[in-house]
Amino acid sequence: MSGTNDQIFETVVTTVAPDGTPHVAPMGVRYRGEHVILMPFRPSTTFDNISATGHAVLNLLTDTRVFAACVTARWLGRREWPMLPAERIGGVRLAAALGHAELELHAQSDDAQRPVLTMARIHEAQHAGFIGFNRAQAAVIEGAVLVSRLHMLSTEKIDAELAYLRIAIDKTAGPEEREAWGWLLEAIERHRKGAAPASGSSEGSADSAGGTDSTSSSGGAA
Ligand SMILES: Cc1cc2nc3c(=O)[nH]c(=O)nc-3n(C[C@H](O)[C@H](O)[C@H](O)COP(=O)(O)O)c2cc1C
Repeated sequence: MSGTNDQIFETVVTTVAPDGTPHVAPMGVRYRGEHVILMPFRPSTTFDNISATGHAVLNLLTDTRVFAACVTARWLGRREWPMLPAERIGGVRLAAALGHAELELHAQSDDAQRPVLTMARIHEAQHAGFIGFNRAQAAVIEGAVLVSRLHMLSTEKIDAELAYLRIAIDKTAGPEEREAWGWLLEAIERHRKGAAPASGSSEGSADSAGGTDSTSSSGGAA
């Protein structure tokens, strides 16, 4: 399905394990008609949770700290985000979401590495309005993608991209974006020092955004 022209929207998907443990993961999604297309890497907690429960929640938000926190968790530890119960499914949504959609697994491809999950919307709600584009938020998202690919990018490439992204941070960030940017820089520094990942963090999580070259150009973190 994933033609290179598919438009991708960066969201945060919340899922719950069968025992109710919530999980938060940034995910690039596609909209196809009424359906939402998710492509979680395998293995991933998000994939396991959706397979087990048949449900996920799509969170649309402008608090980019959530994106930065997820991809830096292996160095800085996982952060907790305020959650609220979903309305029609046994799940949770982020309290910070401007809007959310409660999703049910409708169909699934069999790809061993990157299954395509077609999700039906069973409930949607709007919680706050969109107040406009913010370049620093876009820079944090790009920085989060960079951090998820640290293992496959050269130091020079990372430094050049950071220098460019920093312009938008310096000119347009608010406190949330500055905090998120700080986490990204700290993770990069720790990565360069070869620091051990924070205990209790999900070792595999940051890797999967750029897990393979073949998926990175059309994949969610592209
Ligand atoms: C902007 C952005 C988009 C991402 N899109 C995807 C995606 O489409 N599929 C995916 O598996 N991971 C994606 N990732 C990486 C995951 O959020 C991260 O690896 C996550 O921890 C998934 O694994 P988990 O469910 O085990 O936590 C993305 C990360 C970022 C920063």
